[in-house]
Parts: sequence; C-alpha cells; structure tokens
Amino acid sequence: MQLTHRIATTDDIPALARLVEAAIAELQRPFLDAAQIESSRTIMGLDRQLIEDGTYFVVEDAGNLAGCGGWSMRATLYGGDQSPGRSAALLDPTRDPARVRAMYTHPDHVRKGVGRLILALCEAAARAHDFRAVELMATMSGEPLYRACGYVPCERVVDDRGGAPVPLLRMRKPL
Ligand SMILES: CC(C)(COP(=O)(O)OP(=O)(O)OC[C@H]1O[C@@H](n2cnc3c(N)ncnc32)[C@H](O)[C@@H]1OP(=O)(O)O)[C@@H](O)C(=O)NCCC(=O)NCCS
Repeated sequence: MQLTHRIATTDDIPALARLVEAAIAELQRPFLDAAQIESSRTIMGLDRQLIEDGTYFVVEDAGNLAGCGGWSMRATLYGGDQSPGRSAALLDPTRDPARVRAMYTHPDHVRKGVGRLILALCEAAARAHDFRAVELMATMSGEPLYRACGYVPCERVVDDRGGAPVPLLRMRKPL
C-alpha cells in the first residue's frame, strides 16, 4: 500500500474533474440507471470552494491520482460548482456538524482504503476546528463506505433537480 495524501490546489482541478466523472459514470452503475447517473452530474461533483478553503484532499497511489474528498465548515451539505442552492455561510462548531463533501475514488483504485483514509483526514481536521459531529449526504454508492466508517442514517432524500430522481441518505457521525 503506497497511499499518500496532500491538500488539493486549483492546479489539480482538470485532473480531479476527470476522476470525478469516471467515478460518477462507473461506480454508480450498480445503484442507478442511466437517467439517474445523468441527473447525478447536476447535483454532485467538485466544489471549488473547498479547494480554495484548503479543506480538500487528494490521495495518490504510487504517485497516481487515486481519489479525492474533503470537509467543510460551510453550510452546503452536498453539490458541485454547478449545483443550485449552495450556501457559503460559516457553520458554528458548537452547534452545527461539519460537512464531509465530494468523496470520489477512481474506478482503478477502489477498495484500497482511499475513501476510508480521506474520511479519517476529514474527521481529524473537523475535530481540530472544534466540531463535535460530521454530517454528509450519501449516494447509494457511498453508503457502504460511510456505514463501515461509523456513520448512521438520519434521513432518506430524493433529489430530482437534475431530472431523474436520485435517492440519497443524510448520515451523521459524532466526533
Ligand atoms: C464511495 C467511494 C468514494 C468509496 O471509495 P473506496 O476508496 O473504494 O472505499 P474504501 O476502499 O476506503 O472502502 C472502505 C470500506 O467501505 C466499504 N465499501 C466501500 N465500497 C464498497 C462497495 N462498493 N460495496 C461494499 N462495501 C464497500 C467496505 O467495508 C470497505 O472496506 P473493505 O474494502 O476492507 O471491505 C467510491 O465508491 C466512489 O467514488 N463512488 C462514486 C462516487 C460517489 O458516489 N461518491 C460518494 C459521494 S457521497
């Protein structure tokens, strides 16, 4: 196992966008039909705000881009740059859960612990910023990872803002 990690920079965005597209297109196929995958492209994806905040991680496997994901101290729970209704409002760590956001593993690098590593990094960083819990909106593809890492379901949601209805699950973990 040669996983390494670093904070993403804006120079990473073109390569990260390709990774995100591959993850959405391939790894959601066991859970969603073609119309739902197309709809997913509207409601999820890279959020440049996290990269600018310095809260977005890149994981490399022997130097190759393997995955990405981050956490946030801002109100948006999920969504990419193109998604409607995002809010950059700052959360209050004494009252609000931090967010885990935009987790993607390249299809060539699944089940190597990339997602688990990024979650651990996010949780440690959120804890260091005095947050007491983390919350996320899971895709059906992400749910097994989050359950394996101690997240519990809060609310089932269907998001049809991209066209076809996409099932999602809001999940939470105390820190
Ligand atoms: C969700 C995702 C990031 C998981 O990435 P990953 O790097 O393969 O996850 P890990 O290797 O860290 O998995 C850790 C554990 O989670 C569970 N898990 C992860 N993927 C799983 C799957 N497809 N089926 C069953 N369990 C799974 C397992 O318990 C796994 O441990 P194990 O491999 O030792 O059995 C990846 O599948 C992905 O990019 N999906 C498409 C994009 C997406 O929907 N992202 C989530 C947005 S909320």
